[in-house]
Amino acid sequence: MNKVIITGSNGLLGQSLLNLLLQEKEKYQVFGFSRGENRSGRNDFTYVSIDITSEEKLKNKIKEIQPNFIFNTAAMTQVDDCENNKESCDLLNVTVVKWLAEISKQLNVHLIHLSTDFIFDGKKGNYKETDTPNPLSYYGLSKLKSEQLLLKSEIDYTILRTILVYGKVFDMSRSNIVLWVKSMLEKGKEITIVDDQFRTPTYVEDLALACKIAMDKKATGIYHISSNQLLSVYEIAGQIADAFNLDKNLIKPISTATLNQTAPRPAKTGFNLSKTNKVLGFYPKTFKEDLQRFKQTVI
Ligand SMILES: NC(=O)c1ccc[n+]([C@@H]2O[C@H](COP(=O)([O-])OP(=O)(O)OC[C@H]3O[C@@H](n4cnc5c(N)ncnc54)[C@H](OP(=O)(O)O)[C@@H]3O)[C@@H](O)[C@H]2O)c1
Repeated sequence: MNKVIITGSNGLLGQSLLNLLLQEKEKYQVFGFSRGENRSGRNDFTYVSIDITSEEKLKNKIKEIQPNFIFNTAAMTQVDDCENNKESCDLLNVTVVKWLAEISKQLNVHLIHLSTDFIFDGKKGNYKETDTPNPLSYYGLSKLKSEQLLLKSEIDYTILRTILVYGKVFDMSRSNIVLWVKSMLEKGKEITIVDDQFRTPTYVEDLALACKIAMDKKATGIYHISSNQLLSVYEIAGQIADAFNLDKNLIKPISTATLNQTAPRPAKTGFNLSKTNKVLGFYPKTFKEDLQRFKQTVI
């Protein structure tokens, strides 16, 4: 029986991973770490209400559990918040990862950590795991710093980089592109969407599955996880409208420059999935196909 800790178990990926691992209770004993109440809607795992930015509490709790694997899904993920609160961003996105690596070394734990396409500058697109990072935002920089400290650590680690994650879980602290576009169009509201940023969006259930595959195969190193077709965010919104039979005419294209966001965003990311296909044996599909699967869960 593997003991598995999921930090951020109240989050989008955290809850999806809980749901996946708890299908095999004979294989995994699951511990969820999050702030406040358990918001996953399930009570068939051990929930630990904890602020993981307390080094002592975090390390002591992990020592008590003696896990085989830790999934670190907790992060400060709002890009503009990170730009405005660099200290908080560093604490959760970098320092906590350092502590997790330290305790993982001490207890011989395999640490599986989540990162982002925002470590790239978005000039090239279709990024491979070996492409050179050059983050534009503080969020991207913090995630890159967390990767670099794992690269230097002497532990078994896996870094799964992902892009524009969407899905639906029990109780969500924030929305995502698919739920937001769907809800706005359902209300008949006009929305403006950038047509000069390109992404390969990721269905959270696929991301959770990739996490589980990485654990089961004990795959170490860096892997890219997303859908397999590069689309503009405007095209992504259009496909959401099509999938849910909503009025596409309400979606108006806009350029990134007119948005005036605090943190700069990379123009063109998207992942090359060759390594993920080959080493993890994982073959993500197109956004259109993923949306059809997602649709079954929300209607
Ligand atoms: N979502 C995306 O589009 C995207 C894209 C690229 C990469 N990623 C990466 O993927 C990972 C998972 O993202 P996600 O979308 O699942 O994130 P999420 O929904 O924001 O979940 C993060 C969870 O961590 C919890 N958390 C935050 N600070 C904490 C603390 N101090 N102590 C304990 N728990 C804390 C949050 O609690 P509260 O709910 O109480 O805030 C939240 O439940 C992150 O590493 C992110 O950087 C995400």
